[in-house]
Amino acid sequence: MNLKDLFINFFVSKGHKQIPSAPLVPENDPSVLFNTAGMQPLIPYLMGEPHPYGKRLCDYQKCVRLTDLDSIGDKTHHTFFEMLGNWSLGDYFKKESISYSFEFLTSVLKIPVERLAITVYKGDEKIPRDDVSAEAWRSLGIPEKRIAYLGKEDNFWIPGDSGPCGGDTEIFYWRSTDPIPEAFDPEDDRWVEIWNNVFMEYHQDSDGNVTELSQKNVDTGMGLERVVAVLEGVEDNYLTTIWKPIKEKLESISGKTYEGNETSFRIIMDHVRTSVFIAADPAHIRPSNTDQGYILRRLIRRAIRHARNLEMDIHSNFLEELANVVIDEYKVYYHELTENKDFVLEVLKQEQIKFARTLEKGLKIFEKVAQKSDFIDGETAFHLYDTFGFPIELTKEEASSRHMKVDEEGFERKFLEHQEKSRTASKGKFKGGLSGNSEIETKYHTATHLLNAALKEVIGPSVHQLGSNITEERLRFDFPCDHKLTEEEKEKVENLVNKWIEEALPVTKEIMKKEDAIKSGAECMFIEKYPDEVTVYSIGNISKELCGGPHVSNIKELGHFKIKKEESSSAGVRRIKGVLE
Ligand code: ALA
Repeated sequence: MNLKDLFINFFVSKGHKQIPSAPLVPENDPSVLFNTAGMQPLIPYLMGEPHPYGKRLCDYQKCVRLTDLDSIGDKTHHTFFEMLGNWSLGDYFKKESISYSFEFLTSVLKIPVERLAITVYKGDEKIPRDDVSAEAWRSLGIPEKRIAYLGKEDNFWIPGDSGPCGGDTEIFYWRSTDPIPEAFDPEDDRWVEIWNNVFMEYHQDSDGNVTELSQKNVDTGMGLERVVAVLEGVEDNYLTTIWKPIKEKLESISGKTYEGNETSFRIIMDHVRTSVFIAADPAHIRPSNTDQGYILRRLIRRAIRHARNLEMDIHSNFLEELANVVIDEYKVYYHELTENKDFVLEVLKQEQIKFARTLEKGLKIFEKVAQKSDFIDGETAFHLYDTFGFPIELTKEEASSRHMKVDEEGFERKFLEHQEKSRTASKGKFKGGLSGNSEIETKYHTATHLLNAALKEVIGPSVHQLGSNITEERLRFDFPCDHKLTEEEKEKVENLVNKWIEEALPVTKEIMKKEDAIKSGAECMFIEKYPDEVTVYSIGNISKELCGGPHVSNIKELGHFKIKKEESSSAGVRRIKGVLE
């Protein structure tokens, strides 16, 4: 039996209910692009809301951590990984949690106690040292010399800057064939962390104020790939059975061996697996230049770049072949891989067609510049981006492998100039001589925000603005959606917009720092391209968007909204034309 099943069976036998892995793209949390920990979808329940499955939960959760993107290529990093977790929502606490972890590791996985060591929170001015956890470990047979007391940096866990949090105790495993030292030295990297048990009893707000939660929770997280590597006795995570079928497929397609080509192999294997999971997510992410879509684009293009390193034919269907192996390996656990298989393969194929066409030409530019300079100026970097589809991160990587530098600021400037130009051009094209912001156009602006919010409620949180155009006659709104809206869906959207109009919700405008706007959950298209100060428009509490305006001050002015037309705009993108009557 594999580790996921062993873990779930164990915790189910201890009265836990298995909950399904939440989607990778968080459903109601615009503060992060992807789920980064098992607890993320459980935040409301850790804060006290009752969970429909009860107080004891366990799961394996799909996660993507982008902080590690640049480290991919080494032995231990992945962008996508699975986190095994068990939770007590105001039920059991430290002692039971520790004894469950100990029993699972020593009785189920049969890890000898001698190979384990523990860290415990040493406390601070406000929170006392966690003697309860230390005592629990000692009573299970962990010697005092194998327990280290560490501070906030190591033994306190919070999701980002704010949220439910608390001291934690971490379990380490001796991963070396060297003799196991009697005393635990957390600085010795032959000890690897395998499990983190967080005792969430506090909440920290974004100003750093800490309050006690209404309930004491347990949140644990165990990185699947690392623990499998430990159990299989390998130091290179990519040499475990998890990766074997994908690695073998890549070896057979490329005619190269993993040994000797580790970096490119790891990047291709990791990026294809992550791309498959992102594209298979219910949010139906496609490669684009914003948010999750941009990450997907970067991953696919970087995988193609490294396939070229391995002298593979980048026009062949190698991505599809590798994706099929990933899907086969994981489909038992993640049904969306089967359900969305066609979509995933199409996304990979289309992105590959686009980039494989221009990659060679882009690389030639590098060669040309490298002959006379060690500097890629902003204009060239933008040309690589705009004409040859090189994400700026890829340009930086190519440059650094040739010991060249990139003028990133110059790139940003060009990027903004270009955006400004296309905005002006599109104004000229669509406005057709009409005065910029007539009263009716202002109304359509506001109605567009309502439509966006209503579509999110009816179709799902993946809806967002891909394009918008307003004339005195109508609004037009493009958004990602994989199906033609049904009559019922259209009616629901109209009714919702009209209900809000009747509620006469006020429109408020705030000037905010960009970071604060993101933190507050305001919706926007391409956050890194906005100036530091942005305008955020809110309509009641149903919509919050970064936007230049102008808007009406109360939506009762809008009258009555009607969808005139719903049609396809391009593959996976729907277009609504709506009017105010
Ligand atoms: N939430 C904790 C972590 O991610 C368990 O390490």
